[in-house]
Formats: sequence, C-alpha cells, structure tokens
Amino acid sequence: MDNNAGLQTQDGHSTETGPENGAAPRDDAVVRFDNVGFRYGRAPEVLTDLSFELLKGSFHFLTGASGAGKTSLLSLIYLANRPSRGLIELFGRQTATLKRDAMPAIRRRIGVAYEDIRLLDHLSAFDNVALPLRLARMPLKAWRKDVVELLEWFGLAERGHAMPPTLSGGERKRLGLARAIVGRPELILADEPTAYVDPAMGARIMKLLMQLSKQGTTVVVATHDINFVADSGRPVLHLDDGCLTAYGAGMK
Ligand SMILES: Nc1ncnc2c1ncn2[C@@H]1O[C@H](COP(=O)(O)OP(=O)(O)OP(=O)(O)O)[C@@H](O)[C@H]1O
Ligand SMILES: [Mg+2]
Repeated sequence: MDNNAGLQTQDGHSTETGPENGAAPRDDAVVRFDNVGFRYGRAPEVLTDLSFELLKGSFHFLTGASGAGKTSLLSLIYLANRPSRGLIELFGRQTATLKRDAMPAIRRRIGVAYEDIRLLDHLSAFDNVALPLRLARMPLKAWRKDVVELLEWFGLAERGHAMPPTLSGGERKRLGLARAIVGRPELILADEPTAYVDPAMGARIMKLLMQLSKQGTTVVVATHDINFVADSGRPVLHLDDGCLTAYGAGMK
C-alpha cells in the first residue's frame, strides 16, 4: 500500500498518487489548501502557511500537541471558519467566492464528528443520527434500517430512544460519529473519535473509518492516539504550533 497516498505538502514532497512538484493541481483533490493562514479575531495566527491537497479516497491522521490547531484546521474545511489569508478549495470549488446559499449543499457532502460532539439534546439518539438524512429530505423508509443498523454497530441498539443528556460520554461520542457517517458523505472529518470510548470500540472505529476510505470516502482523523497512528502506517498531517511540519507513514 502507498502510505503517502493522497497528500501533497507545501515543501514539494509529492507522493505516488499526488502531483509532481510544480505540476498542475490534481482534479481529484477533495480538499486543497493554498498558503492558508488563520487567526481568531485579532489574535496571532493559529495556523500558518498551510498548503496541501487531500485526494479522493485518501485517509490521513491529523496529529499535534493540544493547541497545535487540529480542530481549527478541521473547522476551516467544514466551513465553520474562513481563512484569514490563502485559498481553500473544496470539491473543486473555491470557498472564498461561495455564496452563502451554496454552503449547505457543500456541508452536506461533509460528515463531521466534532471533538465536543454537539448532539441536539431535545432529539433522541435515533433522531440525532438521522438528522443528516432528514436534512437531505430523504424518506424515512429509505434509511430507517440504516440508522438502526448503525446504532447496533456502535453498541447503542437499546439506546435509540434515549435523550443525549442521559447518555454517557462514550455513548454520546459514538452517536456523534454515527451521525457523521450515516449519510455516506464524500468527506469525513473525525475529531478525536476514540476519546471516551473503550480500546476495543476505538479499534473498531478506526478500522471502520479506514474501510470507508477504501470505498472512496476521503477521511481525516484528528487524534492524540499515537499508538493507532504508528500501528496503522497511514499518512499523517502533523501540526506543530500551527505549522504543517511533518507527514508520512506513522510519524509521531
Ligand atoms: N474559538 C476560539 N477563539 C479563540 N482562540 C481559539 C478558539 N478555538 C481555539 N483557539 C485557540 O487556537 C489554538 C488552536 O486550538 P485548537 O482547538 O485548534 O487546537 P487542537 O490542536 O485541536 O487542540 P486539542 O488537541 O486540545 O483539541 C489554541 O491556541 C486555542 O487556544
Ligand atoms: Mg482539538
């Protein structure tokens, strides 16, 4: 397997499937950052000079110390924040010129499992997972079974009627992940998906995310779980104080 598949970084290291240095950008790039910087308000930049591409069907870990900028980077990809400078392209479209009414359609192509989960407390576990499907206006009979099966897969078969505040941290984390993948989005961003879950479930979750990338989904997993990263041999986007400083198989 090509461990670097799908990534081209700003320092010109190309990969087997990425473009040669100086060549035209790949048109199968799902995400493309070009010299992106990002700051919150007037504070100093938390992300600096990021340039990379993520190709369709690629899988990357996103690592870095607490505060290095992992969640901020993901927030730029899912359009919650705009870059302070530089260009971001998603699914071949420049985001800087996107009209506000074009954003929901792009966001629906992205499944996000948030670090802080963000379930809707007034909806049941089942309805939280079903939310992306309802937003896509798909009829209940087309997806009811998928949601039930996903709840079962995550060990939550008995918790479908439960309201989020009555669930454990690990149960909520699993629901957040189920909601991110249920609509079969083209891009999945999972921020610390194994936090709060037991090691066996954590391993199953990582395996599932890797399988989804094999089926063509582009996946980015922010994690502190260095054992998974090292054992998987998958490529890494590594942030060091807001700079992309390392990449490649199993980097720490
Ligand atoms: N909403 C915000 N407003 C202002 N500063 C923020 C905000 N969110 C994050 N920051 C700052 O941006 C920097 C990067 O934070 P970020 O949450 O992206 O890091 P992280 O790598 O995800 O950390 P962790 O591993 O702890 O989740 C930190 O210095 C943080 O304090
Ligand atoms: Mg974070």
